[in-house]
Amino acid sequence: MSTVVSAVTHPVRLTERINRIEPSATMAVVAEADKLRQQGIDVVDFGAGEPHFATPQHVKDAAIAAIQSNFSKYTPVGGTAELKDAIVHRHAVDFDSDYRREEVCASVGGKHALFNAISVLVDHGDEVILPVPYWVSFKDMVRYAGGNCVLLHSDESQGFRVTAEMVARLVTPKTKLIILNSPSNPAGAVMNAEDMTAVVRLAHERGIWVISDECYVYLNYGGQRFSVGSLREFRDRFLVVGSLSKTYAMTGWRLGYTLGPAAVIGAVQKLQSQSTSNPTSIVQKAAVAALKGPQQCVEEMRQEYTRLRDHVVDGLRLIDGVNCNMPQGAFYAYPNISAFLGRSGVNSAADVAGKLLREVHVATVPGEGFGTKEHIRVSYATTIAELDRGLERMRKFFGAL
Ligand SMILES: Cc1ncc(COP(=O)(O)O)c(C=O)c1O
Repeated sequence: MSTVVSAVTHPVRLTERINRIEPSATMAVVAEADKLRQQGIDVVDFGAGEPHFATPQHVKDAAIAAIQSNFSKYTPVGGTAELKDAIVHRHAVDFDSDYRREEVCASVGGKHALFNAISVLVDHGDEVILPVPYWVSFKDMVRYAGGNCVLLHSDESQGFRVTAEMVARLVTPKTKLIILNSPSNPAGAVMNAEDMTAVVRLAHERGIWVISDECYVYLNYGGQRFSVGSLREFRDRFLVVGSLSKTYAMTGWRLGYTLGPAAVIGAVQKLQSQSTSNPTSIVQKAAVAALKGPQQCVEEMRQEYTRLRDHVVDGLRLIDGVNCNMPQGAFYAYPNISAFLGRSGVNSAADVAGKLLREVHVATVPGEGFGTKEHIRVSYATTIAELDRGLERMRKFFGAL
């Protein structure tokens, strides 16, 4: 006699917490473009948010030496003293800050650093002021922590400028945090030092925290690069988050950091001690080489990005109906494509980006993920030849829409 095993399917019951957030919109585009590539389709990729440069040789050498010398054990949770000192040193030299070792924690990328920082500062029901357009992950990190985002809408014709007056209008007794990101992803908007200082001063006066995401701080093409870390008098109210990903073309290595008051850094380390523990030991050695070694590579990449930016913006502006601000930093153009909405069954930026990918095989990221419905994000971290190939396809596509 055989036993009949009935297949009982149990519905997967996940937490309310995980259901509050969505997968990253940029990751979704990368995955779809990859799928097309696997089918042998020649995709021009303006979707990925990462440098096309290789990691500098001296950084790679340091990692290889770390492997050879068996630097392969656990390290302190927030990074080795050597790495913490290197982060503090680099920041002091470049931005006139005065952090101490207890005021820095190294994490597994800037994203991890931001996740930790938001987790330790934002509680259920707290309000977080977030300028639009925002980097995709801020909103979901805040929601995961139980907070509510209060969106600060800025004016595209003013370069998406954010001022203290605009922030002040949104402050309520529940406001816990303001997130700044300059230069910004996706618009490449750069806050001037006066506006940043005014926002940090306002936050300090009102007892509100500021997290300044400065992952693109070295990719500033206009004015002087600026970190809120230099505003020493307000330092008990802000955290600076940095990353080696974009600065040294090290996205896959995963090394970011938080600078801030020792009490908050202690909490960040406590959280990290119960999740990832330390960032990879050999990457820490590579990071020390990046931060303490020659900085010429950073300037060379910045100059090349400037050339690529000018090229892509010129090309986009030549497409009838496309309007594009000149980004002042990072490596994204954020053209406004609202002139095409309502044509040929296209009703949203997501429709435009979807059609661009499927019909002419150009990957971009639709603005919805960044909080605007009238833009697509074009990453220009690629070669001039690749920009030209993509621009040509986009010209044909928009010309026929
Ligand atoms: C604004 C912004 N912050 C943080 C990050 C995180 O970068 P990483 O985790 O590679 O350091 C990114 C990456 O795209 C970003 O665009």
